[in-house]
Amino acid sequence: MGLRLGDEAPNFTATTTEGEIDFHAWKGDSWAVLFSHPKDFTPVCTTELGYTAKLKDDFDRRNVKVIGLSVDSIDNHEAWADDIEETQGNRPNFPIIGDTDRTVSDLYDMIHPNANDTLTVRSVFVIGPDNKVKLTITYPASTGRNFDEILRVIDSLQLTAAYSVATPVNWKKGDDVIIAASLDDEAAKAKFPDGWKTLKPYLRVVPDPTA
Ligand code: BEZ
Repeated sequence: MGLRLGDEAPNFTATTTEGEIDFHAWKGDSWAVLFSHPKDFTPVCTTELGYTAKLKDDFDRRNVKVIGLSVDSIDNHEAWADDIEETQGNRPNFPIIGDTDRTVSDLYDMIHPNANDTLTVRSVFVIGPDNKVKLTITYPASTGRNFDEILRVIDSLQLTAAYSVATPVNWKKGDDVIIAASLDDEAAKAKFPDGWKTLKPYLRVVPDPTA
């Protein structure tokens, strides 16, 4: 069975474009995005890796380390980086695992044999400072992911962790948020002394506490 939300993100050692890593030691107490792509020198993957490199400051600001993976070799990753830089304007600035023996792909259930029995699908794992899985996304090879959406979810997860709030449909940073159901009104008063808007007893809205 694949990893589920709340599971410990398994540790591994791997060869990457930035050397050998022990995943948990590399990650430390940061957040992490571990994502797989199906194959080097392919068009959709080229755009994804270029865009992810462009977001480096956005990930750094959120204390998120990014690491990619495919079953291709490190030599291929390095040669392909030239093409990514040339066509996308950004060179990968995060480690990419060369998972030629599929150790990490199997550990994280990134190969879905009924889709393709040798290549990884487009998996994304967001992992918290506690090494627990906070988000999983799986896209098919033919659809490039929306890495702005991944940042949006990280904003939501970090807000929840810090302020006991949840985020409503289509929320983006700065929009109003919802007081978590786990806080009764008494506890909410301590956290939100300026009050909130009660639309229903279960739907209490406050401004984004970080805005
Ligand atoms: C792509 O990145 O374009 C791609 C990779 C593997 C299969 C299909 C498309």
